[in-house]
Amino acid sequence: MTIRIAPSILSADFGILAQQIAAVEQAGADMIHVDVMDGVFVPNITIGPLVVAAARRATRLPLDVHLMIVSPERHIDAFARAGADILTVHAEACIHLHRTLQSIRDLGKQAGVAFNPATPIDCLEPVIDLVDLILIMSVNPGFGGQQFIPSALPRIRAARSIIDGAGRPIHLEVDGGVGPATAAAVKDAGADLLVAGNAVYGTTDYAAAIKAIRGA
Ligand code: DX5
Ligand code: ZN
Repeated sequence: MTIRIAPSILSADFGILAQQIAAVEQAGADMIHVDVMDGVFVPNITIGPLVVAAARRATRLPLDVHLMIVSPERHIDAFARAGADILTVHAEACIHLHRTLQSIRDLGKQAGVAFNPATPIDCLEPVIDLVDLILIMSVNPGFGGQQFIPSALPRIRAARSIIDGAGRPIHLEVDGGVGPATAAAVKDAGADLLVAGNAVYGTTDYAAAIKAIRGA
């Protein structure tokens, strides 16, 4: 299985964001993970479509946009226009998950669905035909640099078996506390897209950090 690494710009220096994105592209990143937080769904506030558009200008890599916001259906059009390639909404934030995933697809983007550590993933089955990415949170969303929650591992395995049953490629992404020490377990459980914030941007050698996570 090809393992992809998506550095999260949440841990980057926003004063020099374009350089920070170019640096991880140069260092071997496969995607750029962009954490959008609204101060309501999660306690923190980060960025909106304007910064996604700036990120779009800084790289040719796919932009993997993780929407940690309430009522994401109100904003998917703006993020799509800003240049997102993947738009991931939280299952907990969507009253009409099926409709929201369909809307993302209708905009020509890949649709992802994310799950907080305590959320059952059984809502996947009825929407699986509309899903291009499943995101299992391995921390409670809101901040970078938190500790990996081990109960994510059986949930990654369960998501992997749903994907295997779907019979077409769906990314299985894991986000939170992923680094050289946790990456092997995450991959063994079946993940193929690893988000890493602190484990990349918290180091001085991004290429070595990405290599260490990929090869763990
Ligand atoms: C957490 C975000 C993550 C965060 C991960 O709410 O969704 O993408 O940047 O950061 P690390 O890898 O430092 O745990
Ligand atoms: Zn994220």
